[in-house]
Amino acid sequence: MDQIKAPLTLSRRAFLGTSAVVAAGAAAGLVLPLSLRAQEQDKALQAELDALPPLRQVAADKGIDFGAAVEPIYLQDNDFSDAFIKECAILVPEWSLKWAAYAPTEGRLVFDDVDQLLRFAGAHGMKMRGHTLIWYAAMPDWAKAALAAASPARAEQMMESLCYSVAGRYRGRLTSWDVVNEAIEPKDNQDNGLRASPWLQAMGPDYIEKAFRLMAAVDPSAQRVYNDYAVEHNQEKADAMVAMLRRLKERDVPIQAVGLQAHLSVGKDLAPLAKLCKDIKDMELDLLITELDVEDTSYWLNDAAHDQRVADTARAFFDTVFSLLKPKQILTWGLSDRHTWLADPKWNSHNPLGLSTRPLPLDKGCRRKLLWKTLYQQISAL
Ligand code: G3I
Repeated sequence: MDQIKAPLTLSRRAFLGTSAVVAAGAAAGLVLPLSLRAQEQDKALQAELDALPPLRQVAADKGIDFGAAVEPIYLQDNDFSDAFIKECAILVPEWSLKWAAYAPTEGRLVFDDVDQLLRFAGAHGMKMRGHTLIWYAAMPDWAKAALAAASPARAEQMMESLCYSVAGRYRGRLTSWDVVNEAIEPKDNQDNGLRASPWLQAMGPDYIEKAFRLMAAVDPSAQRVYNDYAVEHNQEKADAMVAMLRRLKERDVPIQAVGLQAHLSVGKDLAPLAKLCKDIKDMELDLLITELDVEDTSYWLNDAAHDQRVADTARAFFDTVFSLLKPKQILTWGLSDRHTWLADPKWNSHNPLGLSTRPLPLDKGCRRKLLWKTLYQQISAL
């Protein structure tokens, strides 16, 4: 967020008026010119953070892969690419491994960006994970129409074709797949809190089981993950997800891990999280943190205040998770504030004006922030 630059000369009346506004603003934590002291503090923090080893190393020392979502276009910026190579031991495509991205027209598969990411990962000693196969969103129009018109048997053939053509292509090269993404949505009033996904409509609730059994055959080497969001904050959704996972486990469905997306929000409590982690542990499922970022919609705050709130929220999250489980992988949904979906009004209804936000470990200049420090402290203390 840019600092408001106070005008250099003011009339007495204007000065009094501005002072009153400034005082009120300061009380509300409004964006104010950085004082010299604050600039010194900022410089000291930066020097402290720059001296620390990269997250990929700190996490590897604890048996965790740390990384982030990315796309080739972001890596064209050398400063971003350098920071990504330094900090990340794993990557996940933010967009290019989604159905609408690689199959915009029926019968034509385009994997150029995915292949480029796989080459980049290989060149820099990184792993790569797959996101995502069976999802209600990012479906190409032709597939939406075909699924809507398909019999259950035809829909199952579509699922098989999708998994073999995509996951089959990358067999043995991805550490895990979000096999099914975001299948829970109690607001849809479906049985067991399932989302009214096109897959549910076409195949019934067994689509989830079928997807995991299919992927066990398509790529046995890739860990099979169920991935979802808001379960950290929303008890009803967490309960529905755990109940679904229990049903799958009782039927020996080959699901191996849960992906907590962890799109956290400042001010939202994490009441469901502890029990959710206990339930995941009881079901002997691995935990992945798959899409961590921290949204703070108090856009009027200055960067330092913003960053502190974001870091405090992440700390509370990891305090709870790490007291119960050790994730195998921790990925943030982007590495730098330069590329975050949270600044995109198309995708983030909380930010209709597309205001700049600071949800990620590095700022827009790829400098480490307090969130980076929280990740460093939490992981190295494991
Ligand atoms: O780049 C293409 C462009 O070539 C094409 O012409 C255009 C046509 O619409 O689309 C462009 O791609 C956009 C893509 O982001 C890359 O910027 C898509 O429109 C847009 O829908 C897509 O949004 C992504 C969204 O998932 C839907 O796939 C966001 O970047 C991505 O951050 C977001 O990520 C999701 C996770 O997959 C699941 N969990 C929630 C998370 C945040 O919503």
